[in-house]
Amino acid sequence: MRTKVAIVGAGPAGLMLSLLLRREGIDSVVLEARSRAYVEQRVRAGLLEQWARDLLIEIGAGERLQREGLVHDGIRLACDGRLHSIDFRQLVGRIVTIYDQKEVVKDLIALLLSRGGEILFEAAATALEGLDTATPVVHFHHGGEARSLACDFVAGCDGFHGISRPAIPDGVLTVYERGYPFGWLGILSESPPPSDELIYAFHERGFALFSMRSPTLSRLYLQCEPDEDLGRWPDQRVFDELEARLGGACPLARGPVLQKGVTPMRSVVVEPMQHGRLFLAGDSAHIQPPTGAKGMNLAFADVVYLSRALVAYERDGRTDGLEAYSRTCLDRVWKAQRFSWFMTQLLHRFPDETAFDRRRQRADIGYVAGSVAAATALAENYSGLPLA
Ligand code: FAD
Ligand code: DHB
Repeated sequence: MRTKVAIVGAGPAGLMLSLLLRREGIDSVVLEARSRAYVEQRVRAGLLEQWARDLLIEIGAGERLQREGLVHDGIRLACDGRLHSIDFRQLVGRIVTIYDQKEVVKDLIALLLSRGGEILFEAAATALEGLDTATPVVHFHHGGEARSLACDFVAGCDGFHGISRPAIPDGVLTVYERGYPFGWLGILSESPPPSDELIYAFHERGFALFSMRSPTLSRLYLQCEPDEDLGRWPDQRVFDELEARLGGACPLARGPVLQKGVTPMRSVVVEPMQHGRLFLAGDSAHIQPPTGAKGMNLAFADVVYLSRALVAYERDGRTDGLEAYSRTCLDRVWKAQRFSWFMTQLLHRFPDETAFDRRRQRADIGYVAGSVAAATALAENYSGLPLA
């Protein structure tokens, strides 16, 4: 097989890249290790920045998003039983949209296939070869056979546990990493969310987030141990804990729990995001704690930059965009890392914290809640910085 751009991974990054390239007449093939049903059901992120929503609409994948996505003007911070609203629309003229990542993935797959795009499911890439030549090859397994895909460029969109990043020779990448001594226990509950906006709750028992998927479906998270044993968390205990951490700010409805899982937390960035003809995009190059809701949005930003660079190369033979790719992405990635860290350290309990730290967190929340300047900075970052 041969194509111009071999895309490893059919997550938000790989699918969007294939669509952006197809719109400009550039061929690509997407290789995805899992089945279509699996990637369309995987429970993950849910929040789209304003520009990412606009991008999905512009590319033609916005029909269901505009019908079913929940537009939010801002978020609320809960502290000591009080709710503080941060109104993005008022502060920076932007909104965010709650629309489950698996719905985004479903819409992108359907659109790509309807436009004649090629996705091979259950096709796990096993090795990347010739990355420092003009003719790289992706080796993969499909239908019980070992196959290969020759190409001009490889886009490593295979997430944090993929093969693309490890295919870069030792000594090329610098890894910047920070661990967090906690994770999030998340549930999907058939019950109305406690508020029409997301609530980020600061509490002595630990952080909690009250999000949603629809007016009758809640997505709720609790700060927990990084290796928390779900066996210790029957549904009733989860709701008791969520209610306690909401601190009486508003009532919490309970309902059947449809899904329960634990996500550990890390911040990782690798530099550069390119080696020869391999370009890393999305989680394969960086992950961040979910408190800033940046994962899916950063994946989209990377592939917007990559598609622009590939289009300039294919149309005019220009290499400046490809050469600047890593630099351009990393500027945004580090701002998102900074913001995700800011939200995480603002709202969580840390095992080594002191009474000073707790007082300082309270002061910081009070500052964000009471100062237009501080609230504007939060709103600007949360709703998404403009693309370069
Ligand atoms: P992915 O979505 O990971 O897609 C990579 C794809 O590559 C996958 O489909 C994978 O199957 C495929 N793949 C891997 N290896 C191979 C291979 N060898 N060959 C072929 N295909 C391969 N972000 C938030 O903002 N908020 C959240 O609440 C949140 N929750 C999350 C929960 C979990 C459990 C995880 C893992 C992530 C979460 N994220 C969250 C992050 C967000 O979902 C990611 O940032 C986003 O999925 C990144 O998209 P991506 O396309 O880069 O990678
Ligand atoms: C959701 C997840 C997040 O990590 C976040 O910051 C906001 C919303 C969600 O799943 O709805």
